[in-house]
Amino acid sequence: MIPEMTPNGHVETLRTLHRIGEAGGVPCYAGSNVAQEFSLAVRDGGLCVTPKTTAAYQRSLRPVAHFRVQTQPGDYPELNLMMGMISFPGGDTSTKCYRPFSRDKARVAAGLYVGVHSRLGDDPGYFNAVFRHFADAIPAQGIGPALERYGSIDVDTWARRFQQLHSHTYGRTHLVELHLLDLMVRASATDDRHVIEIGPYQGRSTAAIAAALGDCGVNSLLFSIDPNEFAPQAADVALANVAAVGQRRRLVQIHRPTAAVTGIWTEGMASMAFIDGSHEFADMLTDYNLCDRLLMPGGILVLHDIFPARHVGYEPMFPDPPRLLEEVVLPSDRYRPIAAAHQTVALRKLHGPNP
Ligand SMILES: C[S@@+](CC[C@H](N)C(=O)[O-])C[C@H]1O[C@@H](n2cnc3c(N)ncnc32)[C@H](O)[C@@H]1O
Repeated sequence: MIPEMTPNGHVETLRTLHRIGEAGGVPCYAGSNVAQEFSLAVRDGGLCVTPKTTAAYQRSLRPVAHFRVQTQPGDYPELNLMMGMISFPGGDTSTKCYRPFSRDKARVAAGLYVGVHSRLGDDPGYFNAVFRHFADAIPAQGIGPALERYGSIDVDTWARRFQQLHSHTYGRTHLVELHLLDLMVRASATDDRHVIEIGPYQGRSTAAIAAALGDCGVNSLLFSIDPNEFAPQAADVALANVAAVGQRRRLVQIHRPTAAVTGIWTEGMASMAFIDGSHEFADMLTDYNLCDRLLMPGGILVLHDIFPARHVGYEPMFPDPPRLLEEVVLPSDRYRPIAAAHQTVALRKLHGPNP
């Protein structure tokens, strides 16, 4: 059973996605609690919602568009989740529509979803269900075994884990990004290979990675690097989050910037690396060069705050991470993008010698 967080913030019963029609040939789905408060219609290539009653407070829905891209080698991932928001200020009962948007003609919408944004934040059950749909479409990218690793999970525990992390830990890593990290751990985890994380902050991503490693039953460690210069207590929160998912003994916290960590690394020791540290280009280059050296061939590199700016209609909040992707990672021809969710991109390191 996937727990559901209702608009009043209670975790309740099963959250399922119902197919409600097609918009321009794209299947549309709605979370089970949306229909309680909103009328849904599919028209003019979009998903339209109308509140059934007035409310004194603002209500928001979180539409998600799942895109498929006809990729060229070295282009953005074939599968991509982009999130939107439809808000109804108090008293507003007008009809509002969501249409998938992309600047890129090669990106074709493959699914449209809508779920309620609860007053406590995003709804974990909804994003969990959307991500399962999304993950089912990925095996073409060679991560079929990762999906089999989902098979052993108690889904109830799994969804509550994300809910707990998302509602009680400060951070900008979204639920669908935590799900992507979780999936990429399952796609790469190998005994005697480890995971490197740069920039855990309070440990949302850290706990998601550690928990997935635990589910995989491998002996891997998680090396988590953060100087925590401005928030020293964040490391304790991260540790508590990892302990809460039962993986305390897997975590190695390193309280320094990446450049100051030397003498402990071995080339090829990592099955996965996640970079979400400094967002300055020079620092990111240091982070990337380290991870590139440590990642085994076939390992997975995950980058956060990579806005696919040429696909969406807004400029990136941080200009340097997309620069790293476009000017360094993709031109190296040693990484193939395999999936993206929100601002996170996952790439497979190809087999071949390091330069
Ligand atoms: C955006 S936060 C990371 C959020 C986290 N991944 C999550 O899931 O909530 C960025 C973190 O990177 C850390 N950081 C900044 N410069 C760094 C560097 N040179 N090396 C490692 N970590 C760094 C910061 O201290 C901060 O905690």
